[in-house]
Amino acid sequence: MFSLRMILVLAIGSLALSVAAEEPKLSVDSFRREALLRRFDADEDGTLNDRERAVLREAFGGVDVPLLPQRSDDYASIRLPKHVDAAEFAQGDNSTKQNVLTNEGAVLGRVLFYDTRLSRNNTVSCAACHEQRAGFSDPKQFSVGFEGGRTGRNSMGLANLRFTNLKGARPGFFWDERAATLEAQVLMPIQDRIEMGMELGELEAKLQKLPYYPPFFAAAFGSPDVTRDRIAKAVAQFLRSMVSLNAKFDRAADAAGGDYSAEFDKFTEQENLGKSLFIDGIGGVAEMGCAHCHIPPTFGMPKAFNNGLDLKSKDQGLGALGRSSNDPFTPSNDGKFKAPSLRNIALTAPYMHDGRFKTLEEVVEHYSRGVHRHENLGLAFGDQPGARATTGFQLTDEQKAALVAFMKTLTDETLISDPKFSDPFVRQTRSVSEGERSKKR
Ligand code: HEC
Ligand code: HEC
Repeated sequence: MFSLRMILVLAIGSLALSVAAEEPKLSVDSFRREALLRRFDADEDGTLNDRERAVLREAFGGVDVPLLPQRSDDYASIRLPKHVDAAEFAQGDNSTKQNVLTNEGAVLGRVLFYDTRLSRNNTVSCAACHEQRAGFSDPKQFSVGFEGGRTGRNSMGLANLRFTNLKGARPGFFWDERAATLEAQVLMPIQDRIEMGMELGELEAKLQKLPYYPPFFAAAFGSPDVTRDRIAKAVAQFLRSMVSLNAKFDRAADAAGGDYSAEFDKFTEQENLGKSLFIDGIGGVAEMGCAHCHIPPTFGMPKAFNNGLDLKSKDQGLGALGRSSNDPFTPSNDGKFKAPSLRNIALTAPYMHDGRFKTLEEVVEHYSRGVHRHENLGLAFGDQPGARATTGFQLTDEQKAALVAFMKTLTDETLISDPKFSDPFVRQTRSVSEGERSKKR
């Protein structure tokens, strides 16, 4: 005998079945290479040409979707070079128990990082101003936001955001350290009126409706709900996986048994001279070294400093936040900035918070004789001979070239070429999407 309840169950069951037959229930695996090729590679040549991409786009309701590798990428395990002490490094790790780095979370973070739908008019993604080939910075002095507006500062290279320096202090994010955590940082460009122009409630609703996000959120967080908290966590995980410790410097330091002051066999004479000036200090005085502020092995800064770009700063940096001076030697925070990790610095031109220097040679020239005696100038520049208006390390041409050569040993080819940090979206041809962006400006 059929009960009403059984009939209902049967009816609902067959309804669900017929829907499922039309459109397979989406999971993360639906966006893997083989699944997408099986459905859309009509000519079976192993890639999606423009026409096939157009069909794919239509099938997903007219939006670009991500294409993931067949085997999921590893983001969670971080391999440190030998010269980096793992225990000491773990202490500088700003990951939290509330947001543990998982592969699923980082994959979602990667998709979000490259998704133009995070901006109001679907034109700008995080990557628009943080390009992988440029060490995740922007080659432009000021970046262009979703409506064509310009940012007030130069974009920052993104590497080793997970690690602070090893001397205990933990700087905030941005040039002025205004974001205390990476999770807080992530939501700021999204809401910025120039950068992406979104409101978080709107963003949650918008992403929830895109075909790929519910399954990606479910894989990362256990349910398909899109929330601002989860968006922040996933992108922070992706950013934390961008560890950059695989450069010529690391290979040479490993070969030298991890002693940064030793001559590195794998370095040229010039690179060794630059290393000595940078790390051991000018004239061997550590307090007068670049590493006093840019600390190896990440070459990140422990806190914001003033490096004498101007006598009076136009942009007050940390000073504009109204906190008391971050050290006992200077009266205020005016004109103090936190530089990002100098890893990949050869790729992240132009330099400084306002992008005023086009080359590393110009940067070194500044440190040699262009340092203004700002009232909050860092101690490293303090005791230079002669009370002139500008000061600096008074470097010879040989020393300047050596410093530049040394900074070039910090370029990490793996970070800038690793597909797991690249754009996952199946894009329409470049000309089409670029045309769209300029039209909407
Ligand atoms: C329109 C350009 C633009 C977009 C879009 C953009 N950024 Fe940025 N980003 C910048 C600029 C400019 C700065 C420096 C701003 C400042 O310090 O005031 C910056 C700084 C940062 C920093 C700080 C790095 C450090 O060392 O402290 C992080 C992290 C970052 N961005 C991540 C992101 C993420 C994640 C997104 C997407 C959600 C994003 N950005 C979108 C331009 C952009
Ligand atoms: C007193 C601390 C201090 C010392 C010493 C110092 N710097 Fe800096 N450095 C900074 C600060 C602060 C910034 C960011 C300034 C700004 O943008 O306003 C910076 C920025 C930079 C940048 C640009 C970073 C970017 O992403 O645009 C480079 C390159 C650099 N420094 C190299 C050096 C070299 C080489 C030396 C040694 C000759 C050195 N620094 C010594 C504090 C210091």
